[in-house]
Amino acid sequence: MSKRNKRIYLLSVAIILAICCMLANKPAGAAGSKKPIQNGQKMYDTQSNIINAHGGGFTKVGDYYYWIGENRHNDVLVSCYRSKDLQSWEFRGDLLTRKSHPELANANIERPKVIYNEATKQFVMWMHYELRSDYGYARAAVAVSSSIEQPFTYLRSFRPLDNMSRDCNLFLDDDGVAYFISSTRENRDMNIYELTSSYLDIKQKVSTLWVDAQREAPALVKRGSYYFMVTSYCTGWEPNQGKYAFTSSLKGKWSSLKDVGSPTTFDTQPTFIIPIQGSKSTSYLYVGDRWDPTQYFESTYVFLPIKFENDTTLSISWNRTVSIDTKKGSVSGKSSTPKEYRIKCRNTGKYVIPKSEFIGDVKLSYTNDSLRWVVEHVGKGLVKIKHSTSKQYLDVNPDGACRLSNGTDSRSQLWQIQQQKDGWSYLANQQAGGMLSITKDAKSSLPMLRCATSESGKQLFLLAPAYE
Ligand code: DGJ
Repeated sequence: MSKRNKRIYLLSVAIILAICCMLANKPAGAAGSKKPIQNGQKMYDTQSNIINAHGGGFTKVGDYYYWIGENRHNDVLVSCYRSKDLQSWEFRGDLLTRKSHPELANANIERPKVIYNEATKQFVMWMHYELRSDYGYARAAVAVSSSIEQPFTYLRSFRPLDNMSRDCNLFLDDDGVAYFISSTRENRDMNIYELTSSYLDIKQKVSTLWVDAQREAPALVKRGSYYFMVTSYCTGWEPNQGKYAFTSSLKGKWSSLKDVGSPTTFDTQPTFIIPIQGSKSTSYLYVGDRWDPTQYFESTYVFLPIKFENDTTLSISWNRTVSIDTKKGSVSGKSSTPKEYRIKCRNTGKYVIPKSEFIGDVKLSYTNDSLRWVVEHVGKGLVKIKHSTSKQYLDVNPDGACRLSNGTDSRSQLWQIQQQKDGWSYLANQQAGGMLSITKDAKSSLPMLRCATSESGKQLFLLAPAYE
């Protein structure tokens, strides 16, 4: 082999090796593979790109399920993916961008949902439209397309019947009548509107639900003779207790709200319920966004099977991974018991974290491991609370200030969790004789943990399992 040929040969081998290494490093979910959904982990499409479809909806067309949701990268507003198995997702294109219409140039588009109109042969998208981050516009917006995979034509934004309209969803009933559901009156109430036969406008308001209950993130599904709606409470991007209600008629009376899932709905906020109709059965899959309040682009997704105990009672439990058989219509999951907790302060809405000398609080972030704690049961109803990354224990100084220290037998490291009916707890320290409390440090005026005898309202904490 000549010197030149040898060089070319070695270069080719090096390039092939580099490509092989790159392929070997591709994230899970790459090209065509059907892997169980790993809840709360980053999801990748068949090209190994992160799936950007937050606040999304699912529309079945032929054998495909289309997942359409918020993208927010560059000038993209709404993106589209498709899958036959609901597990491996193929990117199909961007449906709305800032360039689609002058009204979208500076808009903030949330929770887009698409339904098909048999009569007009058009796909119709409804979404939440905002111009500013204060959510003051509170409008709905509508777009259409003759193909679900092609860019949509944006039509307009408006307030339905002059009502404020924020978190929203669409629902297409068996009889072809479509409904738009949205939080209204500064998110205090939830309205259901019937759409006109074109699905492009509001025909009439059919219901105002749960006045002053402050529900948002509606997801509606019909099973048998009952309609179910799952919603969240309003806490910005933070998760809270999901609730559901049911009715036998969208124009009729609804049941009261009942809790579903954990006090943080497994760290999610609802976005959709997918009915999976197969040859053997029909299953229902809850889809929630795990918003990261600190960094929107760290937000992930959670898919969980919904169990129906009877015609009007549903439940959702935590599954770390979920497998779906769309042919049979079945969903199965692998449950796991979380071993770590994040500790939320009711008074500040933030999460307990060590801050150099003392223990303070910080905004929720799912990527910040320093927010995690392990609760060790040591008998007699007492626990020790270990900080996960530093392996040190929550302790109290003689002056009442909390700190971390290495494990000892000291009673100052022993806590009694006194859980209240609503899931929040008091934590009583065995040595200091007071309760864990979040108070302002006299010097820095930053919130810090202390043990105190009476600090009304500042002593409630939520031990929120880290659902991963
Ligand atoms: C909760 C909503 O459900 C989200 O869609 C988003 O509007 C955030 N609030 C903004 O805080």
